[in-house]
Amino acid sequence: MKKIGVLVSGGGTNLQAILDAEKSGIIKSGSVVTVVSNKKDAFALKRAENAGVEGVVIERKAFDKAQDFDRAIVEHMKSRGVDLIVMAGFLCIVGEELIKAYPDKIINIHPSLIPSFCGAGFYGLKVHKAALDYGVKVSGATVHFVNGVVDGGKIIAQKAVYVEENDTPETLQRRIMEQAEWVILPQAIEKLCSAN
Ligand code: GRF
Repeated sequence: MKKIGVLVSGGGTNLQAILDAEKSGIIKSGSVVTVVSNKKDAFALKRAENAGVEGVVIERKAFDKAQDFDRAIVEHMKSRGVDLIVMAGFLCIVGEELIKAYPDKIINIHPSLIPSFCGAGFYGLKVHKAALDYGVKVSGATVHFVNGVVDGGKIIAQKAVYVEENDTPETLQRRIMEQAEWVILPQAIEKLCSAN
């Protein structure tokens, strides 16, 4: 049974999808053992608490250097024996420390079909606003490995979602979360946990 550590910053709907998938048996080769938030008021921490999973706060501002922030996350994950780190709505850029400590063992969910609408500055509603401004007819979500390039790691899974006539960034975001993110992230986690 692989040990999963989840990094969060906000509402935690992707964390919830992972926890629900564990309960329903979609994820059966891994288990979330710890949730780390860089924001103390993240509702994701409440979701972890409700599921009986440890939730801790590691705030970036507690460290002078980004490297020390990364190191604190590494030390925490290693102390919990974490095998796979999942960034689920985590809004910090992870540095070399973390990537070196977990090579090809960190994955992220991005709310577009990479390589569209990704990279520095593309997060949250901004991604969906850019997609609507461009006029794409299809968007979706991507699960990818995390490397030194923002949203640049090898793609693991993608799911397309049609853009609808009167979509706003909010309605598109919601549909992509429901129909894509919350589906492919648990599937990708099970695939990786059962692989080796
Ligand atoms: C989601 O759109 C996710 O794709 C992005 O952050 C947003 C919020 O995620 N990474 P969550 O509800 O905190 O999981």
